[in-house]
Amino acid sequence: MTKTSLWGGRFSGGPADALARLSVSVQFDWRLAPYDIAASRAHARVLAAAGLLDPDELGRMLAALDDLEAACASGEFRPTIDDEDVHTALERGLLERLGTLGGKLRAGRSRNDQVATDLRLYLRDHARGLAVALVELADALTEQAARNVDTAAPGMTHVQHAQPVTFGHWLLAHVHPLLRDLDRLRDWDARAAISPLGSGALAGSSLPLDPAAVAKELGFAAPAPNSMDAVADRDFVAEFLFVTALIGVHLSRLGEEVVLWTSTEFGWVELDDAFATGSSIMPQKKNADIAELARGKSGRLVGGLVAVLTMLKGLPLTYDRDMQEDKEPAFDAIETLQLLLPALAGMISTMTVRVDRLAAAAPVGFSLATEVADWLVRRGVPFRDAHEITGQLVALCSVRGCELEDLTDDDLAKVSEHLDPSVREVMSVESALAARTTPGSTGPGPVAEQLALVQHKLDSWRQWAVEKVVPR
Ligand code: ARG
Repeated sequence: MTKTSLWGGRFSGGPADALARLSVSVQFDWRLAPYDIAASRAHARVLAAAGLLDPDELGRMLAALDDLEAACASGEFRPTIDDEDVHTALERGLLERLGTLGGKLRAGRSRNDQVATDLRLYLRDHARGLAVALVELADALTEQAARNVDTAAPGMTHVQHAQPVTFGHWLLAHVHPLLRDLDRLRDWDARAAISPLGSGALAGSSLPLDPAAVAKELGFAAPAPNSMDAVADRDFVAEFLFVTALIGVHLSRLGEEVVLWTSTEFGWVELDDAFATGSSIMPQKKNADIAELARGKSGRLVGGLVAVLTMLKGLPLTYDRDMQEDKEPAFDAIETLQLLLPALAGMISTMTVRVDRLAAAAPVGFSLATEVADWLVRRGVPFRDAHEITGQLVALCSVRGCELEDLTDDDLAKVSEHLDPSVREVMSVESALAARTTPGSTGPGPVAEQLALVQHKLDSWRQWAVEKVVPR
């Protein structure tokens, strides 16, 4: 078997078992293999252009890389636990295929610029996969919103009934954060599109490499302008993890609402059986586990960001082994969201909205009081006084245990000379919603406009999400 270590020359013996076990990263960084091979192909071409591989050697090298790539994809070539990391494993694969020629590829590069390049490629590629999954969830919410453009619901602040809203507006309020997350992914992607390859261990190379050609081949916008920064920088990981942490927080807030909506107390939404779970002891139960897992998994997404920021803090330039700890949180964030987002999309798209229950709840809790105050304002009463007058009406209703519309003309007149029976026109949920016509407000008119805007934005995301990062 080929000797696999990349660094044994000056050492008298192999590493202690305890060191090897601590140091090995191949069990997780094997995910980088296709990207490492793509980078190797680009590096081989640059070595050939520099005259360091002859045309025949380049041809054999590229063929071996293709063969290795296929063997990795099929599972025929696997890393072993003796391979310290993905770079070690792949060099072994190359040596097995090419003999000594395989050893030429390491010229002018180091695992330090390789790993930074591979992780950028991996994350840029998977950011697009995440965008696909985010768009699917946004689609599910948008389709439910389209069905509920004029469904009345009790809008809340402090989880207390506040003012009536349309349920479509509410659902779309969960789409906008996802649209911003998509924006953040694309912004991040532009900053991450810098190629570290050519930086070597930290100082660049004495060989006549061509970092710009490598960058171009790998789909990066430009090579890194500073080799030390290029191998030390993990901003792109931290920033990526901020985006995924914030996605986690958005999904958690959505999850929490679904938990509330599906409770017996609310009863606004019923989940499809395929997207709910039962209890092992209570036969009647139907639980919103997907929503709860959305809430719960936000913990590890936020944790991953904190772990990487804390790891980076205080690290001297340039590469330090601490930085190997950047990968598991990044992989975990992607894999967590790739599990969660389709489940949430399925749950949302199949849930039944109980329009009757929402409509019944919409006027509860004096949610039309602001309409009365606004009616007084339109009659010239200063809002401060209008607020006071309406408050007195609410107090009267509370004492009597009745609703605002149950007050008699006499009651109204007694509370304020400004109140006359025509105020009843504004004491309905329908009129409150219909009166909300300004852009961005909850009335069915503006919500229909908002819906069109959201659908348009989602369509533009669909294209970005399927772009290939590494052109082949
Ligand atoms: N497995 C390492 C990592 O993830 C690769 C780079 C190792 N570089 C080194 N100089 N030991 O960071």
